[in-house]
Amino acid sequence: MALDRKPSPNDLNAFWMPFTANRQFKKNPRMFVAAKDMHYTTADGRQVLDGTAGLWCCNAGHCRPKITEAIQKQAAELDYAPAFQMGHPIAFELANRIIDIAPKGIEHVFYTNSGSESVETALKMAIAYHRARGEGARTRLIGRERGYHGVNFGGISVGGIVGNRKMFGSLLTGVDHLPHTHLPQLNAYTKGQPEHGANLADDLERIVALHGAETIAAVIVEPMAGSTGVLMPPKGYLEKLRAITKKHGILLIFDEVITGFGRLGSAFAAQHFDVLPDMMTTAKGLTNGVIPMGAVLTTAEVHDAFMNGPEHMIELFHGYTYSGNPIASAAGIATLDTYKEEGLFERAAELETYWGDALHSLKGLPHVIDIRNMGLIGAVELEPIAGEPTKRAFSAFLAAYEKGILIRTTGDIIAMSPPLIISKSEIDELIGKLGDVLKSLA
Ligand SMILES: Cc1ncc(COP(=O)(O)O)c(C=O)c1O
Repeated sequence: MALDRKPSPNDLNAFWMPFTANRQFKKNPRMFVAAKDMHYTTADGRQVLDGTAGLWCCNAGHCRPKITEAIQKQAAELDYAPAFQMGHPIAFELANRIIDIAPKGIEHVFYTNSGSESVETALKMAIAYHRARGEGARTRLIGRERGYHGVNFGGISVGGIVGNRKMFGSLLTGVDHLPHTHLPQLNAYTKGQPEHGANLADDLERIVALHGAETIAAVIVEPMAGSTGVLMPPKGYLEKLRAITKKHGILLIFDEVITGFGRLGSAFAAQHFDVLPDMMTTAKGLTNGVIPMGAVLTTAEVHDAFMNGPEHMIELFHGYTYSGNPIASAAGIATLDTYKEEGLFERAAELETYWGDALHSLKGLPHVIDIRNMGLIGAVELEPIAGEPTKRAFSAFLAAYEKGILIRTTGDIIAMSPPLIISKSEIDELIGKLGDVLKSLA
């Protein structure tokens, strides 16, 4: 039924907000109206220090001039062009720029608009890759408990966060999960990669024995699991996964939507851990979060398997209206320029020790049961309130916002991933204020 009135501009009802407690939020909204570098400005004029790079995406900070100008210029020059059977130069230029910083062996870029779409694309590519090579029985997909791979059906099927799965029916068939790697009894308060847990990768051998390698297309994991609350890969774990997948002809997909573009101090986690997957999913930091864009990166082997048959035939029946959108491509190039000119990946590596020491200084504060960090990412895990999981961390989130810092929580874990431009004094401010928040919690 048509509305008989226009909603007033201040009516919060129409926008059904994602991953939000809508009713609670709308009673007491928290609004950002502007942003610059490390800070947001709230509707009531306060400055909030961004401890999360938006949603793990504004790696170069906010409203960076080069990116803003590139978008403005591109919007005035070529706003849109189809990418199906047509091209425009800037999308090709960006693809080459991505490959320049990607691990050696990664040679092709397939554009999407988000991390979730990158995951769906990679899963479909994996199944189609095997079929193109005459191994059409390889259709199973293996994810991991506590994994986050976005919100589309493939992603939640291979994902392992219960709340994101249980409302949505039976999901994809033919999916199995590796165990997660969170071992707090053995690894609590680790800086960098934990000592214990590499053997959890051996579970893949059990899964292979159960289903038969010839039915498995791919294993997908986050090299560092972010959204579940920042779980670093145990030492040797990713290497084992790589060895087992290779042994059985299974593709390995790294979901680098968070770890891509400098978060761990290298362009990609694959370089940081020196493990080469067959495919990588990316988004977020690709355009500094400014314009939606994602990309799946593949080896030549994956790509070339499709380049058979008559040349006039489409090789992969997949793509999006906005794949390689010119404005997003311009934002991507300007973002990569900014990372390079300001040495931001190196900066993340240089700040890792300072960041880690600051975070670990929170050990011993009320309710803190674990702290972990790597690159410019870190987590503080809190003891849940008995019978009320998530409530303590969410109270910390609200108190932090009042104190002028933006943090993120998932379950009872506080996660932080500041823009890579953060200064040491801003790290002190962020951690100092978080410490005050923790001391004030019930
Ligand atoms: C590892 C990973 N994969 C996929 C996604 C989904 O990305 P998007 O929200 O852009 O769809 C995310 C988002 O946080 C993520 O962390």
